[in-house]
Amino acid sequence: MLKNLSNKQKEEKFNGLINYASKINNKSLKSVCINILNDYKEELFCRGAGHDGIEMNKYNRTHQCFDGGLLDHIYNVTKIAYDVGCNYEKQVDMDLILFGAILHDIGKTKIFDKWNENSEIKSNLNYSYLLVDHVYIGEKIVEEYLDKENISEKFKYQVLHIIATHMDTMNKHMAEAYIVSYADSIDADVENIISYPRNAINPIYNQYYYESENPNKWKI
Ligand SMILES: [Fe+2]
Ligand SMILES: [Fe+2]
Repeated sequence: MLKNLSNKQKEEKFNGLINYASKINNKSLKSVCINILNDYKEELFCRGAGHDGIEMNKYNRTHQCFDGGLLDHIYNVTKIAYDVGCNYEKQVDMDLILFGAILHDIGKTKIFDKWNENSEIKSNLNYSYLLVDHVYIGEKIVEEYLDKENISEKFKYQVLHIIATHMDTMNKHMAEAYIVSYADSIDADVENIISYPRNAINPIYNQYYYESENPNKWKI
């Protein structure tokens, strides 16, 4: 279901991400994170986070398939990961969580075409997705920026590990990687369910989901 973001909403999400990036304590990580966001701002503004239309039948996983969907997803994942991470702040590195959450899907700027709602085929998927996917491309983008910073190899690979293993099927070796990966799954799965009419079979999961009796009852 389309719910394209307005330019104002995109700016708000983007500024929200800059705010989260500004919380990173490590100077190198903070500057890499803010530089990548600024360098990829235009790319981030015109893409969805998933694929749509005919591709939906080929892959059972798709979410935020609308203009601005990538920004919407990255913002939600960052907020969820940050909130969860704060519960364990003495035991985990919040810098890794914030950096990983903000940049986990940066590779999607290269594997999804620019959103075009007038496109006859509602696919915003391009060829490289099928061959190397966004995880590999995202790692390459981030590594290039990290290589210009004065950080140890060990730390560099810890940072890259969060991005490299963010998909739910990949083996993770750090608590921070679990937090980012679960935040990613929560946003993708919940968005998939609430984007379609409930009290009906969801076309993505081929399962029945109920609508709650009193949605929006709480004022947050
Ligand atoms: Fe991803
Ligand atoms: Fe994601």
